[in-house]
Amino acid sequence: MNIWYPSYLYCVRTDDLIQNLIKRSEEARKRAYCPYSKFAVGAAIYCDDGSIVTGCNVECIVLGLTNCAERTAVFKAVSEGKTKFSMIAVAAVNEDKIVSPCGQCRQMLAEFNPRIPIYLYNPTTNMVGYGTLEYFLPHSFNPENVRLDGP
Ligand code: THU
Repeated sequence: MNIWYPSYLYCVRTDDLIQNLIKRSEEARKRAYCPYSKFAVGAAIYCDDGSIVTGCNVECIVLGLTNCAERTAVFKAVSEGKTKFSMIAVAAVNEDKIVSPCGQCRQMLAEFNPRIPIYLYNPTTNMVGYGTLEYFLPHSFNPENVRLDGP
C-alpha cells in the first residue's frame, strides 16, 4: 500500500477503547456542516470520567465564523462540566493523507491537556496517525507554565 505518512507521527495499533473513540470521531464527521469547504471533520474526546464527547466542524456563510471539529468537541465538553481530557481522535478524509489539527485547535487542546494523545484517522485508508500534543505544539503557552496574575 502506498500511504503518505508524516515522519513525526507514529503508526500505531489501537486497543478497543481507542478504536471506539476513533469510531465515534468518524460518526461525528458524518454530521459535519461544511457546505462551503465540503471538508468534513469529526472529533471525539475521551474525558476522565469515561465519557466521550464528540464534535464536527460547523461552517457559516460568513466563512471566518467556522468552528473546527476539535474545538466544537472541546466547547461541548467544557459546557457540560468536563475539563479533564485523556485523549482525542480526529477523523478526516484527505486522499491518502493524515489530516492534523489546525493551530487554533492545538492551542485550545493545550489549555486542558498539553500532552493529550491525538489519534488522527483517515477512513479512506483506515490508517491512524498518533502523536501527543507535544509533537504538534511544542513548548506551548499553557496554564501549566504561565500564570496570568495581572500587574
Ligand atoms: N477543520 C477542522 O474541523 N479541523 C481541523 O483540524 C482542520 C480544519 C475544518 C474547518 C473547515 O470547516 C474545514 O475543515 C476546511 O478548513
